[in-house]
Amino acid sequence: MSTEANYQELFALQHELQLLGSIESILEWDQRCYIPSQAHEYRSDQASYIALMRHQKGTAKRIGELLDGLTAAGMGASLEPRDVNVREWKRDYEKRCKLPEDLVSEMTKTTSFAQSVWGEARARNDFAAFQPWLEKIVALKRREADCLGWEAEPYDALLDQYEPGAKTAEVAKVLGDLRERLVPLVKRIAGSSKRPDTSVLRRNFPPDQQEEFGKAVATAIGYDFTRGRVDETTHPFCITLGPKDVRITTRYIPDHVNGALFGTLHESGHALYEQNLPAEHAGTPMADAVSLGIHESQSRLWENIVGRGLPFWQKWFPSAKDHFSELRNVSLEDFVFAINAVEPTFIRVEADETTYNLHILLRFELERALMNGDLKPADVPGAWNEKFKKYFGLDVPSDAQGCLQDIHWSAGLLGYFPTYSIGNLNAAQFYEKAVVDIGEQEDNFRNGVYAPMLDWLVKNIHSHGRRYKSADLTKHVTGKPLSSDALMRYLEKKASYWYGV
Ligand code: CO
Repeated sequence: MSTEANYQELFALQHELQLLGSIESILEWDQRCYIPSQAHEYRSDQASYIALMRHQKGTAKRIGELLDGLTAAGMGASLEPRDVNVREWKRDYEKRCKLPEDLVSEMTKTTSFAQSVWGEARARNDFAAFQPWLEKIVALKRREADCLGWEAEPYDALLDQYEPGAKTAEVAKVLGDLRERLVPLVKRIAGSSKRPDTSVLRRNFPPDQQEEFGKAVATAIGYDFTRGRVDETTHPFCITLGPKDVRITTRYIPDHVNGALFGTLHESGHALYEQNLPAEHAGTPMADAVSLGIHESQSRLWENIVGRGLPFWQKWFPSAKDHFSELRNVSLEDFVFAINAVEPTFIRVEADETTYNLHILLRFELERALMNGDLKPADVPGAWNEKFKKYFGLDVPSDAQGCLQDIHWSAGLLGYFPTYSIGNLNAAQFYEKAVVDIGEQEDNFRNGVYAPMLDWLVKNIHSHGRRYKSADLTKHVTGKPLSSDALMRYLEKKASYWYGV
């Protein structure tokens, strides 16, 4: 058979996987947004049935034969769209085939039970109850890493699932460097006599007004509601249900404006990436996102670099005052200082953009040690609290506010945390390069003009799909490897403006 016929057959098989995957996503979206409380059990049967079908079809021998044939014919070697597709389909196929079914089902069973144990353990501040489950999960993850294969250290195999091509040692170097620069910056800010009044963010903000305002902002930055929608959930997320269906969720807290405001901007940033992947390559890796880290760079860019900037609010604050009467006696400067408050706190999801990365660093260091066997699950609380004191200068009052706060480990998501910081670092590095390419954007933001920014992101990042690996994309776009320089320049400039340090 000709290469063309083989490629078309492979495309058709991949299309089936894509359809099954998007059906799984619809089930998941409904389960997280609207499902009645008693319907979860049947839904989980539906979801595992489709997942099993997808796994069986996705590991079919025929896919392997076609991939081998195409590779032998020289495909997969260049950066042309079809070559990229063959290369990435091969990567996905090999990964799927490396994981034995008994491990996959053991992992699903363990993590689904561990999550409920974790929920109770956190509520009762009882690490001992969670410890045996953490031990099980770490053991399973080490087995998973061995199945996937690794060279330098097992953590590489886990990281690679979320950030393809990333190496633990390289990420550790960038994050370690960031830590050395962040810890003193956070200290300097703590020593400043300037303090924002964050109580202005905790007034009465009617949810229907939050919804209207959030939708107006999302539309303005380019989110297309004819190919998406916004719903309400406790934990905001963005999910793609098909090439023309990218949905987001947010939350409306009546006495705290941040949740909806920045939740909506963050998820819209993710959605802009998904909505602007090249439509002509739909159904192939050329129309997929690169990695979680690159995805997070898009959300953080809109949420923080654009959405927490003074120019953005010079445009939007008058409208915010129209929506929220309790902001009418607040000045623009006081409001923007409040949304840029920097303060060490115990909970990651409530952290500001400066201290946030220290939360990630701590988790990354502990995960790496767990996977290397240098840290025993039993010693996690002690190690957590010691690092927390070192990085934040605070004594952790309880495991519930310490090592038990995140759902990730109970869900088996080891290797996931560093992608948040990879996102923050990339956001700053991309933005600096965008300014070099298309000029300072502050006047545009002051006037509510976002198209030049979005167009730059589409051209330089979205349009490539999975053509480049995360680290190569950073280098290709910015001309430099990922480093802490751009993010530190950005955070230091803010600290100097608001805190005078
Ligand atoms: Co995100």
